[in-house]
Amino acid sequence: MTFPDGFLWGVATSAFQIEGSLDADGRGPSIWDGFAGESGDTGDVACDHYRRWRGDVELLGELGVNAYRFSLAWPRLFPTGRAPLEPRGLAHYDRLIDALLERGVEPVVTLFHWDLPQALQDEGGWRNRGTVDAFAEYARTCFDAYGDRVSRWITINEPWVHGILGHATGEHAPGEKDFRGALQAIHHMLLGHGWAMGELDGGEAGMAFSLFPTYPASDDAADREAARTCDGYHNRWFLDAVLKGSYPDDMRALFEERVGELDFVRDGDLASHEGFVGVNYYSRGVVRAEPGKEPLPYHVLSAREELDVPTTDGGYEIAPGALTDLLVRLRADYGDLPIYITENGAIYYDAPHDTGRVTFVHEHLAAVQSAIEQGVDVRGYFHWSLMDNFEWALGYKPRFGLVHVDYETQVRTVKDSGREYGRIARSGAL
Ligand code: FCB
Repeated sequence: MTFPDGFLWGVATSAFQIEGSLDADGRGPSIWDGFAGESGDTGDVACDHYRRWRGDVELLGELGVNAYRFSLAWPRLFPTGRAPLEPRGLAHYDRLIDALLERGVEPVVTLFHWDLPQALQDEGGWRNRGTVDAFAEYARTCFDAYGDRVSRWITINEPWVHGILGHATGEHAPGEKDFRGALQAIHHMLLGHGWAMGELDGGEAGMAFSLFPTYPASDDAADREAARTCDGYHNRWFLDAVLKGSYPDDMRALFEERVGELDFVRDGDLASHEGFVGVNYYSRGVVRAEPGKEPLPYHVLSAREELDVPTTDGGYEIAPGALTDLLVRLRADYGDLPIYITENGAIYYDAPHDTGRVTFVHEHLAAVQSAIEQGVDVRGYFHWSLMDNFEWALGYKPRFGLVHVDYETQVRTVKDSGREYGRIARSGAL
């Protein structure tokens, strides 16, 4: 099975999860600095990538991928979130981009992957509409500085996760627990996406959505309705806003019942923008109605405890077929848009002989291939992640890398999955 010409075979990371060196070169504090979730770990050192980036670029070359998705740390460019610009931060990513291009690796750059400058958080963070202006200014600066060499951008990574885990459940930074505030933060991220798209001058851009296809636990009307609501919460709210320019009525009504009128949504805020769709896909949800459950009346069954299905070491169902369904559905519901799989991966602990991940990669690439055969315009795949890294609230325990990281010595060791993925990338075929 071959993939289309020009297909991007990539790996993905994000700044806060790998860089460390939080005080280097004038970087300002971010909301994730010192934020220890349930694991107690913080991202102070992570993979020490800010100092070891040259070696990591060599590693990308050795793997044989032709694209690398990484994020810029907003607080390195704008230590307080807004001007003045820190030239040392700007220069760092300049060098990284050049080094990638020298090795034939295309940089695909994410602007916001959750490390919001603390100074903006002090003004309310994404709950504050002023952050949207700051984001547009930051986006314009990046497009100006790097747009001669970067032709694919991701504006915002996973507004559901940053919005809900950061502002409703409090598991992620900034650690707030207010559902209305979360919807407000999400709205401003979606608005920020639109404003950033408006600043783009050449090249293409899109958002990376955390998509979670849902399936009813039974044929009962109540379970089908529950699956649709869960889909609305994770998927349609975001996809409709960005690709249709409006929020879905059923979800808006449900949210307004819970938190009151969404009066922070102003006329003209949402519009559809030309761009690609970034799909972050990890697993699917099997959903059962649970009337009265807050904030929404359903329960997502646990793959390990309530379903008889194969799981990764992280406990999520291995569900490649749902990725095909999702891609086909995106085309049916939103039209023939270019799609990149901007993240897909799994936790496996075995290293370097990670047979589970080798199979996972194969099955998910076959799933992508199947969608392409059905006419979906998928242009690239980015495995999460290049290397084991700081997995947010879960710290260093979960290992998502194609490359193993020994956090004591910072030695990187390519796992079997990394070799296999590189082989597939070089040949362009499964
Ligand atoms: C996604 C995030 C990414 C990483 C993976 C495992 O939700 O975008 O940073 O944490 O999950």
